[in-house]
Amino acid sequence: MNTLDRFYINGKVVVITGGAGLLGKRHAEAAADGNGIVILLDISEKVIERAIEEIKARCNAGSRIEGYVVDITKREQIEHIKDRLIQKYGHIDVLINNAANNPKVEGSSLNMKNIQFENFPVSLWEDDIKVGLTGAFLCSQVFGEVMSEQKRGVILNISSDLGIIAPDQRIYRKEGLEEKEQTVKPVTYSVVKHGLIGLTKYLATYWAEKGVRVNALCPAGVYNGQHEEFLSKLVNLIPMGRMADIEEYKSTILYLISDASSYMTGSVVIVDGGRTCW
Ligand SMILES: NC(=O)c1ccc[n+]([C@@H]2O[C@H](COP(=O)([O-])OP(=O)(O)OC[C@H]3O[C@@H](n4cnc5c(N)ncnc54)[C@H](O)[C@@H]3O)[C@@H](O)[C@H]2O)c1
Repeated sequence: MNTLDRFYINGKVVVITGGAGLLGKRHAEAAADGNGIVILLDISEKVIERAIEEIKARCNAGSRIEGYVVDITKREQIEHIKDRLIQKYGHIDVLINNAANNPKVEGSSLNMKNIQFENFPVSLWEDDIKVGLTGAFLCSQVFGEVMSEQKRGVILNISSDLGIIAPDQRIYRKEGLEEKEQTVKPVTYSVVKHGLIGLTKYLATYWAEKGVRVNALCPAGVYNGQHEEFLSKLVNLIPMGRMADIEEYKSTILYLISDASSYMTGSVVIVDGGRTCW
């Protein structure tokens, strides 16, 4: 087989959680470019509709993209969509566990202001864990079982460079603010992203003989309107001296969900401009 042909996922059903979000849409484009059937799961009908329009405009005419409102913290909703997909296509081939709560602490939004580790609310802890870890666990249970019965499938967990290293809290600090007013990267982000790597290794070995491959991708931050002060501090921590462009993970995504990576399981793939080397 030609090497490039191994990147095609012709007719494979690719489920992407949080598929209407910033990076989810780019993962969807990668899967559509590989000729897969793309299934976006997200929590709002409107956002899904807009995402499908945007993805279709950027991909080949004839790309197959659908979306469903599914709260991945609710097992019955995941099962319902699994049944619909099996009825329609007869198989589910790829799951990208991508959804997460992403409280923005590096932009102009100050929604995490005044929340330090010491006063981090249990309700926020539970909510972040519920989406980022429990959601990935439930989707892996429901869709992964289908794959193990098919004796074929791929699960890709989207972790982060912060699944490998601790956040450097100095880059989130703002001049002139008192200590208790400073913004910190939430503890849940580290716990969720490290946890996904644990889930990856567990499932990779658990399902290895069933033909289900499970890997993790650790992307670093993408440019998305962050303010200058933050950017200059962050790029200092990155050997390549810049954040990622939003397009730069697509080829790794297609590689990891296609037969191009057929001998990879349990791997943690870091794409971070070198940040975790320092
Ligand atoms: N953006 C970055 O720079 C970056 C860097 C490293 C890792 N990541 C990781 O990549 C993934 C995607 O990030 P993003 O920037 O696109 O985030 P995003 O916030 O734009 O997208 C997340 C999506 O998940 C959806 N979602 C939230 N709760 C859900 C639920 N209960 N059920 C279904 N969907 C739900 C949201 O509606 C949203 O569309 C996240 O796991 C994030 O941690 C992002």
